[in-house]
Amino acid sequence: MRSDTGLPNHIAFIMDGNGRWAKKRLLPRKLGHREGVVTIDRIADCVFDRGIKYLTLFAFSTENWKRPADEVSGLLSLLSNYLVKKIPKFVKNGIVLRIIGSARGLSDELKELIRDAYEKTKRGDKGNLTVCFDYGGRADIVEAVNKCVEEGKKVNEEEFAGYLQTADLPDPDIVVRTGGEHRISNFLLYQMAYSELYFSDTLWPDFSEKELDEILAAYARTDRRFGGIGKN
Ligand code: IPE
Ligand code: IPE
Ligand code: MG
Repeated sequence: MRSDTGLPNHIAFIMDGNGRWAKKRLLPRKLGHREGVVTIDRIADCVFDRGIKYLTLFAFSTENWKRPADEVSGLLSLLSNYLVKKIPKFVKNGIVLRIIGSARGLSDELKELIRDAYEKTKRGDKGNLTVCFDYGGRADIVEAVNKCVEEGKKVNEEEFAGYLQTADLPDPDIVVRTGGEHRISNFLLYQMAYSELYFSDTLWPDFSEKELDEILAAYARTDRRFGGIGKN
């Protein structure tokens, strides 16, 4: 959906390139992930300042469990620290913080922090930040199908979307992948059927406000036809 100003309602990022950012500087990968969190803060502020209501970030995929144990545990601690440290800022700024994903591999303590983050921020009315952690597009669809089967329900497309983990979110208008790869890597498969896709060579820790604005400007010029014949 597009407002009169040409802004998207929902922008999503596949934040790729933290490891290569660190490697280029001969640093351990975990420092790349730490720098990636700094970029999250910077870009989230820019997105909400511009009046975009929904920001969704792909932080850890269902396939990322394949990584070395110390990298995985580093990413889990970054998530816990982020939640502990940032909740007051989200409450103050009226941002609803959701963490979606299967959560099967997460500790009880982290699951509690995730629930707490949503409980404390859910009354926010300025914006919505959704972090996809232990998220896979296929797992999301399969779990939704299983819920429908359990309930013995036949559903249409819109009703089905209500069974996905993103039930409370509109579909993303824009999906940006940083880090130079041109693939979706099992992100929001059902939800991005009509998203505008942008691929950037910039490694996520280097992603800038200027590049965000270039993407938003390109989006404002796009003729989204949704299968129709459009304006031109
Ligand atoms: C961050 O980038 C995204 C995560 C999966 C946590 P990467 O860690 O995949 O960085 P690259 O692709 O190895 O550079
Ligand atoms: C995609 O990055 C997942 C996240 C950004 C969380 P990956 O680095 O895991 O993707 P592939 O392995 O290059 O496809
Ligand atoms: Mg990667």
